Amino acid sequence: MKLALIGAGQRGRIYADYAFDHKRAEIAYLVEPDEGRKSSAAEKYGLDEAHVFNSTDAFYKLGKVCDAVIIATMDRQHYEHTMGALELGYDILLEKPISPVMQECLDIRNLAIKNKSKVMVCHVLRYTGFWSSIKNIVESGELGKVIDIQHNENIGNFHIAHSFVRGNWRNSDISSSLIMQKSCHDMDLLTWIARSRVKSVSSFGDLSYFKKENAPEGSAQRCIDCKVKDCRFDARKAYLPIAGNWPAAAISVDQSKTGLMKAIETGPYGRCVFHCDNNVCDHQVAIFEFENGIHASFNLSGFTNRMCRTIKIMCENGEIRGDDEKNEIEIIRFTSNGMQAPYIKKYQPDVMEGFHGGGDAGLMEHFLDMVEGKSDENLSAIETSIESHIMALAAEKSRVEHRTIDLSELR
Ligand SMILES: NC(=O)c1ccc[n+]([C@@H]2O[C@H](COP(=O)([O-])OP(=O)(O)OC[C@H]3O[C@@H](n4cnc5c(N)ncnc54)[C@H](O)[C@@H]3O)[C@@H](O)[C@H]2O)c1
Repeated sequence: MKLALIGAGQRGRIYADYAFDHKRAEIAYLVEPDEGRKSSAAEKYGLDEAHVFNSTDAFYKLGKVCDAVIIATMDRQHYEHTMGALELGYDILLEKPISPVMQECLDIRNLAIKNKSKVMVCHVLRYTGFWSSIKNIVESGELGKVIDIQHNENIGNFHIAHSFVRGNWRNSDISSSLIMQKSCHDMDLLTWIARSRVKSVSSFGDLSYFKKENAPEGSAQRCIDCKVKDCRFDARKAYLPIAGNWPAAAISVDQSKTGLMKAIETGPYGRCVFHCDNNVCDHQVAIFEFENGIHASFNLSGFTNRMCRTIKIMCENGEIRGDDEKNEIEIIRFTSNGMQAPYIKKYQPDVMEGFHGGGDAGLMEHFLDMVEGKSDENLSAIETSIESHIMALAAEKSRVEHRTIDLSELR
């Protein structure tokens, strides 16, 4: 099988490397304008100049030259890159968000259906042992019907500073709102577990902390010029001790001390977290009413120590609790009184190798099987995945307009 990789950044390399390293596919073409990333990927996949492009315009002029494409460029590029690939009839692995713009999501879905292209959206959590186990427990009906859900996305304090204050997703004008960017995954989990579309949503949130009013005295635009002692956001503390690992790996191709210091001195990741051009929320809450009567509350926050998702699903006859970082699920059956010990079952699902609790690898296996025609299953098909995007857009609209949104307004 031949694949093309469009965008050889953090995400694109995970998927393409997986297919290549597991000898499931040849990465036959590469589109990447950044010189460092381009040469690193071309070397890994053994590509000569004729198979490497700076833009999709040049690549798409070849016509359909491989079996499928992986689109892992930035959020606001997905539309152009995906529509071009669909015009040529490619099957596509498409990074989330499909697009931050509703109409663009719909255009992509409609063209995919018209051209009979299979599009798998990278809602990687559906492919993890953890979340598929939660789904299976709910589907088994052993605790009765779901009544309501409490779900938390704990971003992690250093992670929000890296990605949503200094990094690629700091500003919704160049990427997406926080709830779309970080939590279209969570929206997808909620609608998947609830087995229903959302009817209405109320949401509140703000950028409360990472702004210049909170800059300590003596702070400067860049960490290297700062006079504040013991700042936990000092970029030298955040990146130098973890060279070679995420998120240090995201700030420079050169992971030597010199390479990282150069990125800190001159690049976006060396800026003071209180003096950036960020505008996305640092926390947001949302309450959903589903069409089938289930209610869900959702809390998305950068003010957590751990980076994980925690869920409590309250059912007619018991509750399910889960922590995806600890990979722990607890099933608790209700009793008749407080003295009676409840039945509690705890277990840890099997986890595949790699990031996102094995979801990246699981998704890639499903995608390759689908393109090879070994399986028809597409758990995160464009038609399904669009619902999470409608939820995120509606929640953001509610937050901005300070009102409850009836989703029929957006459908
Ligand atoms: N599924 C997930 O859980 C998950 C996690 C993180 C990020 N993402 C999404 O993945 C996407 C990529 O994120 P990333 O962290 O890999 O970002 P990145 O910046 O590391 O990668 C994007 C790459 O696209 C390249 N690029 C820019 N313009 C291009 C063009 N015209 N043609 C081809 N390539 C071009 C950039 O040079 C860069 O190498 C984003 O949309 C992001 O929202 C998804």
